[in-house]
Amino acid sequence: AYVNTKEILEKASQEFYAVPALNINNLEFLQVIIEAGLEERAPVIIETSEGAIKYAGNGNILRGAKLFVDMVRAYADTIDIPVALHLDHGKHFEFIMAAIKAGYSSVMIDASEYPFEENLKITKKIVEIAHSVGVSVEAELGRLVGIEDNVIVEEHEAALVDPDEAAEFVEKTGVDFLAPAIGTSHGAFKFKGAAKLDFDRLKKVKNLTNKPLVLHGASSVPQEIVKLAEEYGANFKGAKGVPSEILKEAVRYGINKVNTDTDLRMAFVAGLREFLAGNPAEFDPRKYFKTSKEYVKKVIKDRMRLLDCANKA
Ligand code: G3H
Ligand code: 13P
Ligand code: ZN
Repeated sequence: AYVNTKEILEKASQEFYAVPALNINNLEFLQVIIEAGLEERAPVIIETSEGAIKYAGNGNILRGAKLFVDMVRAYADTIDIPVALHLDHGKHFEFIMAAIKAGYSSVMIDASEYPFEENLKITKKIVEIAHSVGVSVEAELGRLVGIEDNVIVEEHEAALVDPDEAAEFVEKTGVDFLAPAIGTSHGAFKFKGAAKLDFDRLKKVKNLTNKPLVLHGASSVPQEIVKLAEEYGANFKGAKGVPSEILKEAVRYGINKVNTDTDLRMAFVAGLREFLAGNPAEFDPRKYFKTSKEYVKKVIKDRMRLLDCANKA
């Protein structure tokens, strides 16, 4: 069934587990996410970035958003696990309005690059609009500072969420779930040394807001996938993600939505490289995506079990 994201996340927050939010750009990723959810009896959150919507609609934003809603609903309406569709990192009014109009279950307003007061003002406006039509809203506080930015420690700390601000923000905006920056970053190269997140901040934010919380940049970059892809010609030198134990700890302290894109992309390309290397005469896409889809599905099922949302649907 097609549901409001809030419904999935409030249950997760009350029962202290997390649901992976999985980015898609096309049909094949959606198919395996649904299969994984059904096999694990897990609630499913699918998300698309602004870039994904633009890609799907060949440049036409509303067309792209509608395509995703139709595709996701066609699956959701015919199965008995909860499925939600979320706009990831909405930064432009046009994309957010298109997603709401097309029928997304929830949207993210990411105004985290603006000063606190500005972020609050923009988020509040989007919450008013979205709530008037029953769409739930995620916002972000603090910035995801990647290691590539090469920032010094104090600057890095300054980029992370301020728990008191988080309390004020949630109260004044009425946002449904919050993404606090606690030390992750997007992509395949998250840490140079040991992976470390600021759990003290996370605990405080959970305590002060009591809201479902979201971890962005949460891919684990499984080393067996990296190795496999590299065996077939990829170069992912230095790729490193958030280790499973650290994710588990984050869930213990109140994370309920675990945004995952990079891991799926890497598993897909590893499978594609492997398949094509072994089947040089194949040219049917329904066949040459076979190994890719198997690897992506395995990554998702492993996450569902790790985050403890398996058997919750
Ligand atoms: O947060 C970013 C997601 O991984 C989506 O990335 O803008 O390349 O679609 P994208
Ligand atoms: P990863 O790059 O770690 O998969 O993060 C994805 C994300 O945060 C999408 O919003
Ligand atoms: Zn993100």
